[in-house]
Amino acid sequence: MAKDTISVTDNRTGKTYELPIENGTIRAMDLRQIKVDKEDFGLMTYDPSLGNTASCKSAITFIDGDKGILRYRGYPIDQLAEKSTYLETAYLIVKGELPNREHLDAWTYNITMHTMLHENTKKFMEGFRYDAHPMGMLVGTVAALSTFYPDAKDIHDIECRRLQVRRLIGKMPTIAAYAYRYSLGLPYVQPDNELTYCGNFLSMLFRMTERNYKPNPVLERALEVLFILHADHEQNCSANAMRAVGSSRVDPYSATAAAAAALYGPLHGGANEEAVNMLQEIGSADKIPAFIKSVKAGERKLMGFGHRVYKNYDPRAKIIKKIAYEVFEVTGRNPLIDVAVELERIALEDEYFISRKLYPNVDFYSGIIYQALGFPASLFPVLFAIPRTSGWLAQWAENVIDPDQKITRPRQIFTGEAERSYVPIETRPAPQTLERKLLRGRL
Ligand code: ACO
Repeated sequence: MAKDTISVTDNRTGKTYELPIENGTIRAMDLRQIKVDKEDFGLMTYDPSLGNTASCKSAITFIDGDKGILRYRGYPIDQLAEKSTYLETAYLIVKGELPNREHLDAWTYNITMHTMLHENTKKFMEGFRYDAHPMGMLVGTVAALSTFYPDAKDIHDIECRRLQVRRLIGKMPTIAAYAYRYSLGLPYVQPDNELTYCGNFLSMLFRMTERNYKPNPVLERALEVLFILHADHEQNCSANAMRAVGSSRVDPYSATAAAAAALYGPLHGGANEEAVNMLQEIGSADKIPAFIKSVKAGERKLMGFGHRVYKNYDPRAKIIKKIAYEVFEVTGRNPLIDVAVELERIALEDEYFISRKLYPNVDFYSGIIYQALGFPASLFPVLFAIPRTSGWLAQWAENVIDPDQKITRPRQIFTGEAERSYVPIETRPAPQTLERKLLRGRL
């Protein structure tokens, strides 16, 4: 009978080792026994950017990138997008099961009770420059929350973890809305606990002098769906940052700030902002061929396209493309949709994109809806970070209680100088620094 093992022969020594295979993986630590001699450290794997390394066991999100499948805790993303709400999905992600009515009401109440910010948080935010990027403000303010809740350090206590989860999910929209209002010089709007999670967020962003702000139900639902789609995505860059930083046992506010910082980058959650800027720059369908030519020449990237895991259409992009048209029924058509649809059509027929399996990802169409909803481009990554907080916290909690996990600490292949002796400054030649070598193209 076939055994779940792999035999590895080290051609340097002629020795053969039998390594167990579990869940389609071998344990990297099992390679350490493979040595040339007793002094040898043992074999390691080299996997820059962790493209073929499972860093954890996780029961939260399942993705089949070749088939374009995404499930949270077993539930297909399209069913959740159609039937669920963001808070219900967040419960599912954090707690592992869908809530019944009683549990959903309690969860909603508990999160709603944490939407307000300490007054000093506002003062802290007022220290940012008038033109500060809202994502930078979010990253800094979430990190600052750790100083308001020093009790959060007790991460091995389940009740403590539960409290921070409620606080963070509750406060993220408030911080985001304050960052937005600050950039416009508008007074902050207090949370309105009569509204839904998304309705309250819209109120904190857009309410002016109305006595009772009532969000448009179509737009509120569109935001709800976008939040559901962004709630988790297994071991992406920011989830990995959350786990790695959290593995030092720091409080979850500091770890969430690190995750949000990872999300900010243009190759991750910052791509939606970049995608809209790109569509605006292209401007009209007749400019697309020239743009595609520059992408194929390696001069730039088609933002909102490509994914490390999806080698098929991102299922979230499909849903977003569909709801874009529902939003336009209310807001009027965003002309960028025509550029985007044509860009997608041309790219998907082009050998460059076909051979590399590059398809639209979640960020390709989301910015167009956000723009139609009235959000400025700089707020797009923030709109990603708010719902992703539930995913980050679920990933973090899973890591905290996983007995397999220790502090994240990868190895390296050292490529620097061998030992050399200190030379007095008077006798040193001009230094050939790394920067100089880079500038002269020698690195
Ligand atoms: N435009 C043009 N070419 C691309 C693109 C793109 N968007 N994405 C990948 N490629 C090309 C690469 O240049 C490479 O070509 P080569 O084989 O000739 O060198 C090939 O496709 C493979 O790409 P990699 O960079 O190896 O793919 P990787 O898995 O490392 O990167 C990533 C994935 C970062 C998402 C990449 O596709 C990208 O930069 N996309 C644009 C940014 C973006 O939309 N990011 C959002 C991702 S979704 C999210 O984070 C929420």
